[in-house]
Formats: sequence, structure tokens, C-alpha cells
Amino acid sequence: MTKVFALVPAKVTLFGEHAVVYGYPAIAASIPTYLRIEASFRGRGGSIARFEGVELRIPVKALGIGFDFAEIDKSYASRLAAYISKALELCSEVVGGLDSGLEISVESPLPPSIGLGTSAAVSAGVLACCAKLHGVDLGVEELASLAWRVEKEVQGAASPMDTATVCLGGIRLIEPSQRRYPLLRDSLEALVGYVPRVGTTASLVAMVKNLMGRAPSVFRAVMEGISEVVKASIEAIKQGNLELLGLLASVNHGLLRALGVVSEASDRVVHALREAGAYGAKMSGAGGGGAFIAFADPRKLEVLSEVVRALGAKVVSLKIGCPGISLGESP
Ligand code: PMV
Repeated sequence: MTKVFALVPAKVTLFGEHAVVYGYPAIAASIPTYLRIEASFRGRGGSIARFEGVELRIPVKALGIGFDFAEIDKSYASRLAAYISKALELCSEVVGGLDSGLEISVESPLPPSIGLGTSAAVSAGVLACCAKLHGVDLGVEELASLAWRVEKEVQGAASPMDTATVCLGGIRLIEPSQRRYPLLRDSLEALVGYVPRVGTTASLVAMVKNLMGRAPSVFRAVMEGISEVVKASIEAIKQGNLELLGLLASVNHGLLRALGVVSEASDRVVHALREAGAYGAKMSGAGGGGAFIAFADPRKLEVLSEVVRALGAKVVSLKIGCPGISLGESP
């Protein structure tokens, strides 16, 4: 086997972000926009990762330190390098030691840190490729749980939402306390896009944690409210009730505003979508900008895409839900 690759879908959070960090359920879906991770052995001398032309050197014997950042955009690459490095470390644990450096390339149609699960996709893809090169086929459940460890260790805190969704695919209920991720539906029509994002997931999660400490009963009530939205949306998803999903998205957006994580750009886009006839919309992910999702009559999705593009947003998908990670070999 000379080269293996993983195609990993991105993901979008439908409902329940932030509350999921405190053990409440959430709902997320894979989206048919794929990251491609390729890996091959490169002999002795450490691993190398390439990300859209960026080259990082990752010494096998000192995983996680000593990156060579010469002439690269640090902010862009350093975050991904941390996930790749940790994924290789866990892969090494699973396969009983890496006996050679790896050459890894990551092609992504999406920028990192916009709330669409790119770090989860990179973590899962690198783990799966590395294990496969060493003759170990990780089942998707095990892969999801290892990739979650990568996210937790790199970010300090993370829910299993992103890694479970990109590994298993479909539209899933995420029940973190029970580690169950049941499939609610294979797919649905919805508009997914993003605006530029300020702040990282870790900083936004920390900000919310701070609010929880300052007024626990108030913010606990906001989290409970989000969890009620999640519960109400389960049947709506199963029935494909887009109108109700729109209403619930708008309520969830309001609750995220109460947490202080909604940027002005997100608010503008969400407002414009509703004005233009969407049933409802919300920001998606940690916030500070980044991803959003809108539910509407499917015949209106193209027009709504034009509306958000005119505001400077990017449209990623008009469909949510697709199969999870897949692996292959290339010559
Ligand atoms: O990293 P993002 O933007 O996809 O957001 C993650 C969602 C949070 O609930 C805020 C954090 C988590 O780990 O679930």
C-alpha cells in the first residue's frame, strides 16, 4: 500500500451548540463538502504535513513540538498542525509506535475555524489514514472517539459533536452524557454558509464559561432553553417540517445572542435571510461570526444564496446530511 486517503465531510451544527459543552444534547449534520487527507510513508526523518501548499515538519520523536514554520502563515497553519500532531501521537499509541515518518497532505475547500468541523475532519482523517497505513482498520465508532480525544487535548475542552458527525455522517442527535449519537434522518434541504470569524472556539467556550460563573442560575436557564429547542426539533427533523425548524432556528439564535457569541455580521445575515423569506435562520458553531444555517422552502434556497452572497457571505451547501468518512488507496 503506497498511499491512502480519507474523504471527510464537513459538518454543521443545527441546534444546541455551547449547551452541548455542559452535557445537554445537540443536533449536527454532515455536509457534502469534503476535506481530502492523504498519507504515505516517507521513511526516517520525521513526518511532514502539507496544507494547501503549506509545509510543516513534525518530528516523529517529539510530536507536538518543533514545527518548522519558515515562511508560512502561522495563524492559518499552526492550529491545524496541532491537530495533526496530536492525531499522529494517538495513532502511534493505537498501532504500537510509528516506525516511519509520514507524508500527509490536507486539501480543504473550507478555511479552518469557521464552525464547520474542519479540525474534526483533519483529526479523524489523519488518524484513519495513519492507522490504515499500519494495517489497522479503526471502526467508525472507535475513530470518532479517538478523534474526539484529539479535539479535547488540543482545545482543552470539546464536545464529541463534531468528530461523531464527520465520522458517522447523516443528521444526528448528539447525547454527550450517554455517548450516543442516533441518526435522526439521512438528509434535508437547508442553506449553509459562513461569514468571517473573529475568535477561536476555545476562547468563545471560555467566555461562556465565565458567564456561567458570574450568573449561574440565569445562564443555566439559557442552556435549558437551548436544550428545549433541541428536544422540539427532533420530531421536526424526522418529519422534515422545515417551517418549524426555521422557527426553532430563530429561537436558538436568540438564545445564542443571550450568551453573547453572535457577531454583527452573523446577525445581519440571519436578519436578511428572514426578511427574504426564509422560515428561520441561526448562526452555527461557537460564534464570533463563522457558520450559519437557514431553513426555507427548498425552491427559495437559490434566491436566498444570492441574498447572503450580496452581504459578503460564502455559501457552502444547500443540503445537510451525507455519509461520513470514507477511506481509499491511491497508487
Ligand atoms: O468549533 P465550532 O465553531 O464548530 O463550535 C463548536 C461548538 C461548541 O458547542 C461551541 C463547542 C463544542 O465543543 O461543542
